[in-house]
Amino acid sequence: MNDHIARWNSASKCFDLANVGIERRYGKYKRELFTKCQGKVLLVAAGTGLDFPYFPEGLEITAIDFSPKMVEKAREKMGGYSGKLEVVEADVMSLDFPGKSFDTVATSCTFCSVPDPVKGLKEIYRVLKPHGRLLMFEHVRAGAMPLGAMMDIMTPLFRKFGPEINRRTGENVRKAGFTITREYNVYLDMVKLFEAVRP
Ligand SMILES: C[S@@+](CC[C@H](N)C(=O)[O-])C[C@H]1O[C@@H](n2cnc3c(N)ncnc32)[C@H](O)[C@@H]1O
Repeated sequence: MNDHIARWNSASKCFDLANVGIERRYGKYKRELFTKCQGKVLLVAAGTGLDFPYFPEGLEITAIDFSPKMVEKAREKMGGYSGKLEVVEADVMSLDFPGKSFDTVATSCTFCSVPDPVKGLKEIYRVLKPHGRLLMFEHVRAGAMPLGAMMDIMTPLFRKFGPEINRRTGENVRKAGFTITREYNVYLDMVKLFEAVRP
């Protein structure tokens, strides 16, 4: 098992408790975003399944995470979703799904921690159908000085515990081939909603 997976396995133990404040503050934004899901949905990096209640009823959702311990916890919450939901252990950087198989990919607080974000986003592009949508809730590097520079300095410290705080996720989404159709600042320019389409 690699270090990244081991770190998230360990984080799974107190993940729900540690995220109470985040869900309370940002849950409504995730719900607003995930309401836009249509058809066959891939939820990337389900974590412990805290995002399941934000999805509209009746969808067909495949949720993945590369941490077996996160998958275990997410499976405990599966029953609360009224629709088709399966949770699968998988790495977004190397997916087994055939190309063009999903209508929507949804994800939250993920591309701060995927080891090679562009590789992961290219895999998402591959498995999305043409005109399929990518819906993301993400924290990113601040554009303004000195905040952005401070985030660069602090990133090696944060990396020891989990996420990187200076990811340029918008740029990465474009590098993977997507067209961003909406970028909404939830908190300053550090917590954002992205909506993107595979042309
Ligand atoms: C900050 S947590 C977010 C979990 C969930 N989306 C939420 O907001 O509650 C990041 C998650 O990304 C998962 N992850 C990181 N890199 C991954 C990868 N390459 N493939 C699949 N899951 C990954 C971790 O295991 C962890 O569960």
